[in-house]
Amino acid sequence: MVLSFGSFESFGTFSENDPNDPNDSNDPNDPNDMKRLVIAIDGPSGAGKGTISRTLSETLGYRHIDTGAMYRAVGWKALHENISLDDEAAVAALAQRAAVIVEGGVVSIDGHDVTRAIRTPEIDKAATGVARLPRVREVLVARQRALGAEGGVVMEGRDIGTVVFPNAELKIYLDASAEERARRRANDTAHTGSQVGEAAVAAAIQARDTADTTRTVSPLTLAPDAVHIDTTAMPINEVVEKVLSLVRAKLT
Ligand code: DC
Repeated sequence: MVLSFGSFESFGTFSENDPNDPNDSNDPNDPNDMKRLVIAIDGPSGAGKGTISRTLSETLGYRHIDTGAMYRAVGWKALHENISLDDEAAVAALAQRAAVIVEGGVVSIDGHDVTRAIRTPEIDKAATGVARLPRVREVLVARQRALGAEGGVVMEGRDIGTVVFPNAELKIYLDASAEERARRRANDTAHTGSQVGEAAVAAAIQARDTADTTRTVSPLTLAPDAVHIDTTAMPINEVVEKVLSLVRAKLT
């Protein structure tokens, strides 16, 4: 999909306060050194979190952290090592010792590039199984907090605004109708596997939604201070523009 976001280029100034930029004074009184926010993007599968978060982070010069990819990578590794997803202690130990990198559009675990391997129906299920284990969540949430501690981050997931960063400056809850989410997922070329057709995808999404919203720890839920955006009939650039206007409001 080719997107034109030329009109967002004025947000180049948001990459100010870059510790690696020798021309950046990092002076807190310098008006060019804008505050770098934590932006939490939550919502169910297929709501548009990935596309919106990626575009936002590029526009703002922020880091993009896909926390779902962390659960997926741990699920992938557990399957790879024949660790049962019912063995919470073993999966938590795996999560604790694994080096997981989820930035720059590449996902790796212990040096294995799993960017494509984690986007399959098998790993959809494994990730959902991993995500219901409290001890695994503890390990991954601690890492997510460390990754976002400095601000300047767009973090997407299910519990970012409720658990990981309850004090995030901006919380967005993206949603879309079940039919539209299934349609998007069925057309998602990054997602490979055996589910053919929207009906199969819709059934799988429904099962994961139920698991994600009814689990005991950190279920997907709308934070009271999150801005709810229904993306069913909205083009991507409209959603991005809406979120950017909320970012502007936080920075002025
Ligand atoms: O966003 P995704 O489909 O890649 O997420 C994979 C699974 O992990 C899904 O079941 C939701 C779960 N998840 C979670 O529980 N908490 C997060 N912060 C991110 C994802």
